[in-house]
Amino acid sequence: MDPVNLSEFEPLARERMAQQAFDYVSGGADDEISMKENRAAFARLALLPRVLIDVSTVDTSTRVLNQDISFPVMVAPTAFQTLAHADGELATARATTAAGTIMIVSTLASHRLEDIAAAAPGPKWFQLYCYKERSVTQELVKRAETNGYQAICVTVDVPRLGRRERDFRNQFTLPPDVVPRNFEGVADLAGIDPAEHGSHLTAHIASLLDDSLTWDDIDWLKSITTLPLILKGILATEDAKLASEVGVAGIVVSNHGGRQLDGVVTALDVLPDIVSAVGDRVEVFMDGGIRRGTDVVKALALGARAVLLGRPSVWGLAADGEAGVTKVLHMLRDEVELALALCGCPNVAAVSSELVRSR
Ligand code: FNR
Ligand code: LAC
Repeated sequence: MDPVNLSEFEPLARERMAQQAFDYVSGGADDEISMKENRAAFARLALLPRVLIDVSTVDTSTRVLNQDISFPVMVAPTAFQTLAHADGELATARATTAAGTIMIVSTLASHRLEDIAAAAPGPKWFQLYCYKERSVTQELVKRAETNGYQAICVTVDVPRLGRRERDFRNQFTLPPDVVPRNFEGVADLAGIDPAEHGSHLTAHIASLLDDSLTWDDIDWLKSITTLPLILKGILATEDAKLASEVGVAGIVVSNHGGRQLDGVVTALDVLPDIVSAVGDRVEVFMDGGIRRGTDVVKALALGARAVLLGRPSVWGLAADGEAGVTKVLHMLRDEVELALALCGCPNVAAVSSELVRSR
């Protein structure tokens, strides 16, 4: 049976993927409390629609960092998409471009960033993990610039990888044909013993990523690129303020889909404070638990400019490659359009904080 909503792609992905890979995608850290809370936070928020407003046409489009997108949803960076489908990031890029929005390509992509850029002409941002070896980081940024990526989205909530116990149980190892292709010849995983670290990915991150990163390094990143910077993984209002002071273009309020520190606040819960603290100085995005058009509208009502979609795009990819991602994005866009109409909003700008209240 064809899925009728985003969540129904998850069991399809489970059928199509190796169990290890499915668990890596769908799981979270520790007891997966934050992962579940990301959904619960949306359920705690109620919509308060207006009526007798002409919604005969609803415009779902919006603008992020001076780029028009067809609806206020971008595709979140997710690593190793060939775990879900052989076409991996190439398929996601094509589907995202066709849907008229932005794909954020992970540093840990399983296709080269050059090939992903070439696969589809649409706008893309590059998600950056900072490596201990500065020249590796610098080279990634340069390649992203050369290949037309429009922004660098620096992930700041992974000084170490969270405890993903599903991956520990499975002794999660990447199949030989799934590698971080951006590092061919640079950061070889073959010599890393997953048994020593719990999982292959934990090993890569523990041995290669820079866990000494500070705000000074954000200044350094600013100095090596002309592209706008976005910091992904902000939760504290103080950090949001610091981000606006160092002069980044945007922040993604995020708990990494509940995959890092378990028991943290949800992005949705802290969003209003962050938005009121940073005002218009930075564009504020959020992610974690977006599964419905109404979730998108709730996030916008709390002040997000747009949201990122993580797991559902990977489930769609696993279910049916490019066509699966397309289905997921179209389904969500249709839901956003319906939610706006039923809220009495003919466009995204009409969404205001009056539209939501706590239950
Ligand atoms: C991620 N996420 C992520 N984030 C990032 O900055 N770089 C990355 O490489 C990855 N990799 C990754 C892999 C997989 C399989 C998942 C599920 C997630 C986090 C991602 O960008 C996003 O923050 C969350 O997925 C959002 O939550 P939802 O939409 O999955 O609930
Ligand atoms: C993850 C990392 C790679 O969440 O960001 O799996």
